[in-house]
Amino acid sequence: MLSFGDPTPFVRVVRDAGALLILQVTSLDEARQAVELGADVLVAQGGEAGGHGGRQGRSTFSFVPVVADLAAPTPVLAAGGIADGRGLAAALALGAAGALVGTRFQATLETLADSSVAAAIIAGSGEDTERSTVLDIARGVPWPARYPARALRHPFVERWQGREGQLAADEEAKRAYRQGVESGELPRDPVWASEAIDLITDLRPAADLVVDLAAEAAATLARLRS
Ligand SMILES: Cc1cc2nc3c(=O)[nH]c(=O)nc-3n(C[C@H](O)[C@H](O)[C@H](O)COP(=O)(O)O)c2cc1C
Repeated sequence: MLSFGDPTPFVRVVRDAGALLILQVTSLDEARQAVELGADVLVAQGGEAGGHGGRQGRSTFSFVPVVADLAAPTPVLAAGGIADGRGLAAALALGAAGALVGTRFQATLETLADSSVAAAIIAGSGEDTERSTVLDIARGVPWPARYPARALRHPFVERWQGREGQLAADEEAKRAYRQGVESGELPRDPVWASEAIDLITDLRPAADLVVDLAAEAAATLARLRS
């Protein structure tokens, strides 16, 4: 699965390995390119998603159906803001073949993230999240500016949001960020988190979560049918 950038140079590598080619897209231009490259599956990612995403931050609700129409008959997965079975049922209603769920899995027993991350996600609300390039600039991570990331709000982000160009040129501010992390005043790592974290209220085994998501989606669809 490839995201965030031109996948063209990697298509051959994926094909030669005998793997399916899954391309995550954040705009219609990226969706058209994914279809032209012959992707087996597209992931249509809306701006509600945790972690990096397209600058325009298309809403999952309006982006998924248009990508589903554009890519048909290639299957499309919906991503961004789906954390329970209702969201999965909605994704199916929008024309997706399924969902790619990210943030929800950070609050599972198998997560590779620090336990503080799951705790912060369980305690947080979507309104505590912000899309920004500030943390990438502060950490010196060379992400293209066209892919900001949604994370739990952070005092440093609030200070520099809207002044990213200034931050990039301000070595003193970046040093202050590093010192803040070292002293424990600022969190060590950004907590990448979805706008859907209001729906994440417990830590569960991942296998149980998958079963619960499917059962809840089936119950939702049955309720709608009746
Ligand atoms: C902690 C975290 C790390 C992520 N890392 C990547 C990544 O390395 N590559 C990628 O394509 N997407 C990454 N994503 C984005 C997911 O592919 C997906 O689009 C997103 O999690 C879906 O939205 P949701 O978080 O609302 O479920 C990441 C998301 C999270 C929450």
